[in-house]
Amino acid sequence: MYFVTGASGKLGQLVAHELAKLTAPGNVTLGSRDPAKLAAFAGQGFHTAAFDFDKPATMQAALKGSKRLLLISGDAPVDERIRQHKAAIDAAKAAGVATIIYTSFTNARPESLFTFGKIHAETEACIKASGLAYIFLRNNQYAENIASAIAHARETGAYAVHGGKGKVAYIPRADIAFAAATALLAGPEANGTYEITGPEAYDAAAVARILSRKWGKEIKVAELPREVLASILTGAKLPAFMVEALISIHEANAAGEMAGMTGDYEKLTGRKPESLESFLNRTA
Ligand SMILES: NC(=O)c1ccc[n+]([C@@H]2O[C@H](COP(=O)([O-])OP(=O)(O)OC[C@H]3O[C@@H](n4cnc5c(N)ncnc54)[C@H](OP(=O)(O)O)[C@@H]3O)[C@@H](O)[C@H]2O)c1
Repeated sequence: MYFVTGASGKLGQLVAHELAKLTAPGNVTLGSRDPAKLAAFAGQGFHTAAFDFDKPATMQAALKGSKRLLLISGDAPVDERIRQHKAAIDAAKAAGVATIIYTSFTNARPESLFTFGKIHAETEACIKASGLAYIFLRNNQYAENIASAIAHARETGAYAVHGGKGKVAYIPRADIAFAAATALLAGPEANGTYEITGPEAYDAAAVARILSRKWGKEIKVAELPREVLASILTGAKLPAFMVEALISIHEANAAGEMAGMTGDYEKLTGRKPESLESFLNRTA
């Protein structure tokens, strides 16, 4: 039996769609804090269970009988999320899970400029210390993350970003979902770390060129200073930890932390991931 946490989220739903193509849904339990959100998947034959990082007893009960767990990282602030992930790892071990597949992040190091780097580094360390087998999927940024900057560019002619000179090997969320489903069902038994990246890395100027070609009008890059981005994000009512995370990820981009490309996606899945250019030509 396989288990997926965070299954009602955007990535979790895409993983469930992939799993439905790859195995009998009856082999899979989908977990959510609110299993009612998973009713459509239950209708397809998936098992569903209440699963909350803040309720260890529910996690252990839900995981009983599952040998492989896809642990989709949560969305809480840094120290709280590390505590939540540790509780999930403890519950998995106590329930008899053999292998954890974890959605980590590019450059998962405490020294990363991206404030969430510490979450992923500590979660990976905790999984290793548990003695369970593991697969770490160090996912680069979703291609979907730049959707609001693209919408703004369409309206104003300016692709406005902080740290826009840095390249990022964006990858569509659906491709990450396929890698996660593949790793959950058929990943190698040995421990492994996969750097999940798109096939090319793009700076803001490259994104603007793609949009200019696609829309038939010139799109210029506008560099957003830190304080301006901070006031936009704060004005959008994001919590302070998320404002800091979103600023810091752009500063990590500018420092080149997210520019690396690997063949790990193809090694894991046998497929090539979609490039950002192809994704934007399809969706922008
Ligand atoms: N690579 C990237 O660019 C990128 C971008 C954004 C986020 N992420 C990370 O990837 C994860 C999945 O992305 P997404 O797009 O699917 O995000 P999302 O739609 O916001 O989903 C977040 C998931 O976290 C789960 N969660 C939150 N608190 C939880 C708790 N206390 N107990 C159990 N589950 C909890 C939620 O599960 P339920 O609501 O079902 O309980 C939800 O499905 C995010 O949570 C984040 O860690 C990566």
